[in-house]
Amino acid sequence: MRKSNSLVLLLLLVFIFIAGCYYDNLENLYPGVDFDVLNDTTRVTFSGTIQPMLNTFCWECHSNSTASTKGQGIFLEDYTGVKSSADDGSLYGAVSWAPFYTRMPQDANKLSDIKVAQIKKWIDNGTPND
Ligand code: HEC
Repeated sequence: MRKSNSLVLLLLLVFIFIAGCYYDNLENLYPGVDFDVLNDTTRVTFSGTIQPMLNTFCWECHSNSTASTKGQGIFLEDYTGVKSSADDGSLYGAVSWAPFYTRMPQDANKLSDIKVAQIKKWIDNGTPND
């Protein structure tokens, strides 16, 4: 009896281990999210890369509804606002923590290198509204 109990326990542990590995896979955790695009600097688009990033890290203070009160009137939700910050150099200056710019996101960690590179890529591409 004891022996078969241990066997059941062992099988259970093996199952949990295998199931754990399976669900650790990002594609399985977030179906529908294209992680290649999220981590890629070759396929950067405004709607697919830049906007979702700004949504996650910046709209708390720079969305259409928050910018006036929390974001010093800098609007980063719609294309026009993002383009104007990109054109005057402040968007890249802020996220790359360049001298003379206020470091963004405010009071938070710097964006990952790949995200900063994606913003640079979008600007280098001519800030397309794609
Ligand atoms: C918690 C609120 C908050 C968050 C989150 C935030 N900002 Fe800001 N942002 C501000 C405030 C406040 C200012 C004005 C700061 C100042 O001028 O001293 C500002 C200024 C800026 C500026 C102008 C900087 C300059 O030196 O001219 C840019 C560009 C900017 N933010 C972009 C971003 C981006 C991009 C993100 C996300 C990666 C972000 N912000 C996240 C509050 C925030």
